[in-house]
Amino acid sequence: MTRCPGPSYQDIIDGDRAAPPAILRESAAAPLGAHDLPVDVYLSAEYHRREVEGLWRKVWQIAGRVEDVANPGDSFVYDIADDSLIILRTRTGELRAYHNACLHRGTRLRDEDGSLERIRCPYHGFIWSLEGDLSEIPCRWDFPQVENDDFRLPEARVDTWGGFVFVHFDPEAEPLEAYLEDLPRHFRHWPLEDRFVAARVERRVACNWKIAIEAFIETYHIIGVHPGNLPFFGDANSQYDVWPDQRHHNRMLNASGIPSPHVRNEISDQRVIDMAVRFGMLEPGTRIPEGATTRSLMVEASRKRIAEAMGVDTGSVSDAEIQDVIQYSLFPNIVLFGGLGSPLFYRARPDGNDPNSCLFEVMILQPVPVGAERPTPAKRRWLEEHEKWSDVPELSYFGPVLDEDQEVMPQVQRGLRASRKPSISLSVYQESRIRHFRRTLEEYVPLAGSD
Ligand code: FES
Ligand SMILES: [Fe+2]
Repeated sequence: MTRCPGPSYQDIIDGDRAAPPAILRESAAAPLGAHDLPVDVYLSAEYHRREVEGLWRKVWQIAGRVEDVANPGDSFVYDIADDSLIILRTRTGELRAYHNACLHRGTRLRDEDGSLERIRCPYHGFIWSLEGDLSEIPCRWDFPQVENDDFRLPEARVDTWGGFVFVHFDPEAEPLEAYLEDLPRHFRHWPLEDRFVAARVERRVACNWKIAIEAFIETYHIIGVHPGNLPFFGDANSQYDVWPDQRHHNRMLNASGIPSPHVRNEISDQRVIDMAVRFGMLEPGTRIPEGATTRSLMVEASRKRIAEAMGVDTGSVSDAEIQDVIQYSLFPNIVLFGGLGSPLFYRARPDGNDPNSCLFEVMILQPVPVGAERPTPAKRRWLEEHEKWSDVPELSYFGPVLDEDQEVMPQVQRGLRASRKPSISLSVYQESRIRHFRRTLEEYVPLAGSD
């Protein structure tokens, strides 16, 4: 596997980004790609329609968690643009994904998640078994032309990895294993199938789904959007990894517990600690003991908090896995976190067919405590427009940070609509994941005029 050169891990912690990182110093041959990318993809209803055909019907996508369909009869509905699936577990324990439309006159079969004995159309009452077989038609005599075998519920493909239910609308699709490329190897020490949904919150955000994803795959925006994090977050020291032979995922590593290079020379260690206290990461009144550093103090506090909250042994877990952000994107619309420090999951998907709106979901995926039964997964909480992420106590200190992102994402969409500049201009390194994402997107959905 070819890896773009990046800074060393020590560089991420100690580096001073007055100088460019290794990728720029040492590799003129790095696959940097175009820096200016067209904005139509965020705004155009026509591009959205092509995304429905070329992207959403051509990728493996996460519909939900396996724990949502743990028992026979459990089901949930997954909507993506106009398409909709009923994901359920059959009586014999198989996962199925049925197209959510009646074969009589087309009615949407299910709106709600929940446990089912059968699938019954709400209009005239056609009934299918959990296995997808047509089992009943009211006034059966009136449909002599209907063969039960022809009226099986059509299915999409379904598979699982990491405790997630993936679906694919194309019966000819490559296997999920191939689609995931090298990602499972990266997560081999962080088995997400051993996590449970401790919190799940979704809301509408007034921006294109890609703007939402792009807002979370760089830390270049910390200085503008989250200045309160600068005292304990090494934003500009972050490492970004884009692997040329891996189309569907990329990564960044962000050190926490150290001040940003932007403020390093301006703040004392105690100020770093005080800000971490304000975010609830350290106990009020925390002072730095002799010989400790801000990072060592925060790592030990996090190690203890995680061990207590999750009932897991953190003794042999590295500092980076305890404290830092080890974050992956999975094409097209998922952000996943490795390690234990940020047990987050983000998903952005189109809001129906409106290119100016998306549905953004956040989950906290905590390890199932050692020796404990798997807890019941948290129900999805829907946030109304006037509500905040920080209104959800389960999101802890992530809530206020998400509120800051929530403010800026619609402003990007509005700005792009008002702009006379036909492109966005990306930085070479810190926005390299966005370029990688856009390059893969354009392989699925070519820009107008390029196909
Ligand atoms: S539309 Fe479903 S039973 Fe008539
Ligand atoms: Fe952010």
